[in-house]
Amino acid sequence: MLFGITYLLLYVFQVVFAEIRTENYVKGGSAFTPSHINHIKNQTRQLFKHAWSSYMEYGFPFDEVRPRSCEPYGPDYNDVFNIVRNDAMGNISSTLLDNLDTLIIFGEWEELEKALTYLRKEKNRIFDKDTIVQVFETTIRALGGLLSSHVLLTDLFSQKREIPAKFTKLKQICDNYDGFLLEMAHDLGKRLVVAFDTKSNLPIPRVNLATGWKKIPSQLKKETCTSGATSPILEFSLLSRLTGDPQFEHLIQLTFSKLWTSRSALNLLPMTIDPKKNLWLDSITGIGASVDSFYEYAAKHSIIFNDDYMWNVFSSSYKSLLSHSAQGGGNTDYELIFSNINVNDGLIATSWIDSLGAFFPGLQVLTGQVKDAMKTHATYLKLWDYFDSIPERWEFITVGKVSDYEDNQYKSILLEWYPLRPEFIESTYYLYRATRDPMYLQIGSRILELLSTKYKAKCGFNGIQDIRSGEFQNRMETFVMGETLKYLYLLFDVDNDEFLHGDLMSEKGWVFSTEAHPMWFNKRLLPDESTRSKYSSLSGKKKYTGTEGTHHSSPVTGTGYGLPKNKKYDNFFTKNHFKARFSQCETTARQPESSGLLASSFYKSDNLFHFDHKFSKHLVRPHYLPQTHLDGSYIELSKPFFDIYGLAAPQKGHHHFQSSRPPSTASYDIILGNVSEMDGAEISELYSTHNSHPITNLHLNKTITSGDLWVPDLSSLRFKVEKLTHGNIDTTNSLIDESYIASMTQRGISNCCRINEDELLRILKVNGVPLSPGAVIWTRTFSIQCPKDGSSPALDITDDGRLVIYGTIVENMLVLPL
Ligand SMILES: *[C@@H]1O[C@H](CO)[C@@H](O)[C@H](O)[C@H]1NC(C)=O
Ligand SMILES: *[C@@H]1O[C@H](CO)[C@@H](O)[C@H](O)[C@H]1NC(C)=O
Ligand SMILES: *[C@@H]1O[C@H](CO)[C@@H](O)[C@H](O)[C@H]1NC(C)=O
Ligand SMILES: *[C@@H]1O[C@H](CO)[C@@H](O)[C@H](O)[C@H]1NC(C)=O
Repeated sequence: MLFGITYLLLYVFQVVFAEIRTENYVKGGSAFTPSHINHIKNQTRQLFKHAWSSYMEYGFPFDEVRPRSCEPYGPDYNDVFNIVRNDAMGNISSTLLDNLDTLIIFGEWEELEKALTYLRKEKNRIFDKDTIVQVFETTIRALGGLLSSHVLLTDLFSQKREIPAKFTKLKQICDNYDGFLLEMAHDLGKRLVVAFDTKSNLPIPRVNLATGWKKIPSQLKKETCTSGATSPILEFSLLSRLTGDPQFEHLIQLTFSKLWTSRSALNLLPMTIDPKKNLWLDSITGIGASVDSFYEYAAKHSIIFNDDYMWNVFSSSYKSLLSHSAQGGGNTDYELIFSNINVNDGLIATSWIDSLGAFFPGLQVLTGQVKDAMKTHATYLKLWDYFDSIPERWEFITVGKVSDYEDNQYKSILLEWYPLRPEFIESTYYLYRATRDPMYLQIGSRILELLSTKYKAKCGFNGIQDIRSGEFQNRMETFVMGETLKYLYLLFDVDNDEFLHGDLMSEKGWVFSTEAHPMWFNKRLLPDESTRSKYSSLSGKKKYTGTEGTHHSSPVTGTGYGLPKNKKYDNFFTKNHFKARFSQCETTARQPESSGLLASSFYKSDNLFHFDHKFSKHLVRPHYLPQTHLDGSYIELSKPFFDIYGLAAPQKGHHHFQSSRPPSTASYDIILGNVSEMDGAEISELYSTHNSHPITNLHLNKTITSGDLWVPDLSSLRFKVEKLTHGNIDTTNSLIDESYIASMTQRGISNCCRINEDELLRILKVNGVPLSPGAVIWTRTFSIQCPKDGSSPALDITDDGRLVIYGTIVENMLVLPL
């Protein structure tokens, strides 16, 4: 048995009390009436027009426009090692390729026609560039942009429906479209897929568009990240399915399944591989940079290609992230942070999270994990509240001395830039679609305000180079239009007026790619004979006979033990928590009683400011921003919003919102047994068909109630526990007093007779599954061997059926009587 403390956070007793004063009225409405929504949607469209016309005027045909100096921007041909600049640029008009579908979404038909005319003219030249590009970035931006636009122009109007008048022009463009974007995609795909032509089946990270492997310095071929190696699966599979040329899908499937087969015992993939040596280069994983779109594409591939194998990859990974990486996320927690962990022992590996991880709540919504999504998103919302942006890397675990954070107020900003990344607004969009909570619109309107002012430049939009000083970047990456503005615009499409949310798309089973390109696949898109022969004559040597049936799914969790065989338990049933979680979606987190009311569920929680308290050393308003929270920048405290949507607040009608006290108890992880076997551990929910014969713990008269868990086997579990000691505030806002502890400790006598009388443990989560306050975990009895030296065993049972861990009684875990 192993007793592991991964981290320990002590909270000082303090009452957080936030008052919203009436006089601090912030400009701009928050009612989100139809005319207000129209207005902010139109404003977003104007921002897009500004960015697009700037690019066309000053950047095109180069990859980007520099927003501050109004110059074109492309690869650094003088320095091949300048990968920050070169990886996403190939001198291939990247902004144009990444935004063809954006033009369709924003309804810019004339601009679309211009772009198509240009591309048709250039199609045989555009990718023939002696330039080294990163395979991943070029795939998701350029290849994805081409494939998405091809699918849109080919299949958008395929079903027999009446076409709204506003689409007459687009329909015309579709009717004249002959599929040349797919030819371009195929051309680009062939230039990129050579990266996968390795002995190890693991791709090199970069290729030269004109010469393939030739002319690439070995330093630029060495390390491929997991996202980069696995993510092309959506684009490559779609390219193969649309053209009938199998090589792309074949190679990416080999890579994907090889990597998944090489996962750790915890079902996790590290972040970096050496394709030449066929080796993992690290043993760390998380949800952010280098591994993010691995999970995303497992889930999205399973959706558009109806693939159980990929769903299993996603659900097993997610389950493992919940068990090991998730910090917080318990029923009384405000936040859920997925930290980087070691793939083998599941222990925390770094002290920070990164900005890219802000996409994760969107994926959680898409995969039916809405409650988790809200808590994960809440973390990034706080970062936005303080920084008006999200630092590329932010430290949330105190490293070194607390005074270091006082000496250097920006110590937690480990990487200081914010290039107008889309991930947070992307998640906000998904969460609004799932919950319809107006807070997500309020977040969008704050971001819109910043984009319209601070982030707007003469020729586009500029992100921040240094959040600590406020210095701007002179760069507008292709995703600013392609994702940030696109998601913002779609967030404001409350009434589903845009085609993506309407009838035209309702039966297509589409998803957004990781670069926000809508993608789908259906029978109508299958290549006909002439297309097939056209692309097969162009294709490489690889023989491949299809993917159907090459994967098979296996269950997410091990088989359950069920309750002990006993007539007493006839009315009780167990439902495997993870099976249930991955087989039905939480469709909405909205509380029924608030439907019909203008209310935000945010004001129902009384722990809205616990995060600020807990991370007060890590959150700081940069000196150049107003030093108040009441100027509208702190989104949850926005006065006009609260006036309208604060109806659900604990004290109705008062601008007076009282938070619960943050817990002052310590919490830490306890790992029992072998982490490698945790995937098979049964965690089930208990429920009963009727309650006429409740089962009780004989001595304590404790009844099984719904919400309780059944965890029969203690040989591989990870508990998040709270240590209850006299004088502390617990996670449910109660003061723990001596008599409570005494009432629990003085009653039971353990087998080995050494009970700690000063403290109790309370389980908050078991293998990532949160336990509700008051609920109990029931387990089976087990035999105990008392240590000969009289010390406390790792696990013990009191005579009234409580679990004891190293001599400390667990408040909410009981042995089910036989
Ligand atoms: C959108 O905004 C622009 C610029 O402010 C304005 O000229 C136009 O009339 C607005 N359109 C709508 C439909 O509100
Ligand atoms: C980059 O693209 C531009 C415009 O298409 C072209 O004029 C130029 O020759 C290209 N540069 C290189 C080095 O390929
Ligand atoms: C833990 O479990 C794994 C997988 O079953 C096994 O290979 C390993 O030997 C176990 N470790 C210990 C210390 O028992
Ligand atoms: C057990 O609890 C129930 C309800 O809380 C109560 O009605 C019953 O009398 C109790 N039984 C014993 C033996 O204490």
